[in-house]
Amino acid sequence: MRGVVLAGGLGSRLLPLTKVTNKHLLPIYDRPMIYYPIQALANAGVDEIMLVTGGNSAGDFLRLLGNGKDFGLKRLNYSYQEGEGGIADALRLAEHFVDGESVCVILGDNIIEGNIAPAADAFRKQQQGAKILLKEVKNPQRFGVPILEGNRVVKIEEKPANPRSSYAVTGMYFYDANVFDIIKTLKPSGRGELEITDVNNAYIADGTLTWDILEGWWTDAGTIESLHLASQLVAKTGANKMGV
Ligand code: G1P
Repeated sequence: MRGVVLAGGLGSRLLPLTKVTNKHLLPIYDRPMIYYPIQALANAGVDEIMLVTGGNSAGDFLRLLGNGKDFGLKRLNYSYQEGEGGIADALRLAEHFVDGESVCVILGDNIIEGNIAPAADAFRKQQQGAKILLKEVKNPQRFGVPILEGNRVVKIEEKPANPRSSYAVTGMYFYDANVFDIIKTLKPSGRGELEITDVNNAYIADGTLTWDILEGWWTDAGTIESLHLASQLVAKTGANKMGV
């Protein structure tokens, strides 16, 4: 399984912190934000990773991470997303890198306490379709929110004003290689982006999306409040258990 870390965007919700640098280089407690998703993939046995960046300070990722040796990676590749095309648009850039394998995609601002290794192992067995990880949250309207019928996710709504469940779709996704064909069919959303939620809804329509609940705390770090919270959580309990 290959790994893709998405670390583009302008980080406008964090201005002026992101006026001259990339959101994913900001500190979360004692290390740069980007360390956490890379470590999460490495802990799940994913050692071939592509980092897709964009916006400010793209070259600094190479200076910071080099060839990924500090994380025990076999290879670390880089790509650059022009403009603000959204998460699914950024993932499109990894098609040749993924090269027909399955892929674990993680958003560069998602920080977890635990380990996605169990989900990665389950997806290695599942082999096709997709898998998402859900987490109960107090403010679902900030996220992709699943509509659940019994045990089934029947639809995901992106940042709904009236959430139909109290779960967020976290920014960690497992896909088979069909994901790149799905992305080619997407149309930009109201905010002008190719949405990862539309990718997941395509797998739901196909009947091949599975889900798990993520154990341990989870937060994104894309707003001032969540950036601060992420540092507090890491300071208190550590993150990714092993390694970091
Ligand atoms: C993105 C996704 C959303 C997901 C979230 C997780 O939102 O669009 O579905 O729940 O990441 O961090 P963003 O915060 O990038 O707007």
